[in-house]
Amino acid sequence: MDTPADHAATFDAASAGFARIAPVLWNPLGERLVRAGAPVAGERVLDVCCGTGASALPAARLVGPAGAVDAVDVADGMLAVGRAAAGSDLPWLRFIPADVTTWTGDAPYDLVQSGYGVFFLPDMDADSRRLASLLRPGGRFAVLAWSSGALRTFATCVLRAYEQVSGERPEPSRNLDAAARIDSRDGVTAWLGAIGLTPVAAEHIDHTLELDEALSWDLVMGTGYRALVSDLSVDDLERMRCALLDNLAAAGVDHFDAGSVLGVGVRPGVR
Ligand SMILES: C[S@@+](CC[C@H](N)C(=O)[O-])C[C@H]1O[C@@H](n2cnc3c(N)ncnc32)[C@H](O)[C@@H]1O
Repeated sequence: MDTPADHAATFDAASAGFARIAPVLWNPLGERLVRAGAPVAGERVLDVCCGTGASALPAARLVGPAGAVDAVDVADGMLAVGRAAAGSDLPWLRFIPADVTTWTGDAPYDLVQSGYGVFFLPDMDADSRRLASLLRPGGRFAVLAWSSGALRTFATCVLRAYEQVSGERPEPSRNLDAAARIDSRDGVTAWLGAIGLTPVAAEHIDHTLELDEALSWDLVMGTGYRALVSDLSVDDLERMRCALLDNLAAAGVDHFDAGSVLGVGVRPGVR
């Protein structure tokens, strides 16, 4: 359930739904990540787990033709959406199908950035430490992750709906443990320090979506929850969609809390 190949399958299947929610979720938060990492003209950026380009696209606009953005993801379906959005305007932005745990690319980079990506890596600490080693001394590592409590009420309704339809309690994902270690300003600050970055700055971002029926289901079919439902039949998917809407209504949940944490650490050393 938790290997890069599993994530490729999940996010390939999720890519259409992921793209539908991008304008209200991934893109505005990706813009915040880029603002914090602050790439400038001519810089070289590695976007780790780039998805459909929520942060790679704005970074590419900022670095311009003298710079470069390597946007790396295992899911071809996600990369195809990103390439279509870039069109022919940003030839210095490459959407690359690869596993970031072995990517070296054209290091050194000035900025390594990742939106909602590092907690998917098989060993978040070792893999991120290696990615940070691709930075030049003085380069920045910018990471965006879910805040504690974000998604929680919605997730409870999703997991209950799955159980109601399948009769099975979902397996907890190892990625959740990794995500919990960087779900606060203190957590992300300590983690960036532990992978060798200093100084570190961190902030909390409030972001809330008003739920309707279509968005509620896209938040299942277009995100990591897609892995949960991958074995359900078409009929069971429809039953789960109805159960989710019932659960949300019964719990009075009409908003999706996408609160996030943003951290930026610097690779020590003189350029
Ligand atoms: C939640 S999405 C985030 C996408 C994008 N950064 C954004 O904020 O919209 C996580 C992405 O991580 C990718 N991913 C997971 N493990 C990966 C790995 N080992 N190498 C490359 N991409 C990976 C998935 O395919 C998926 O597109």
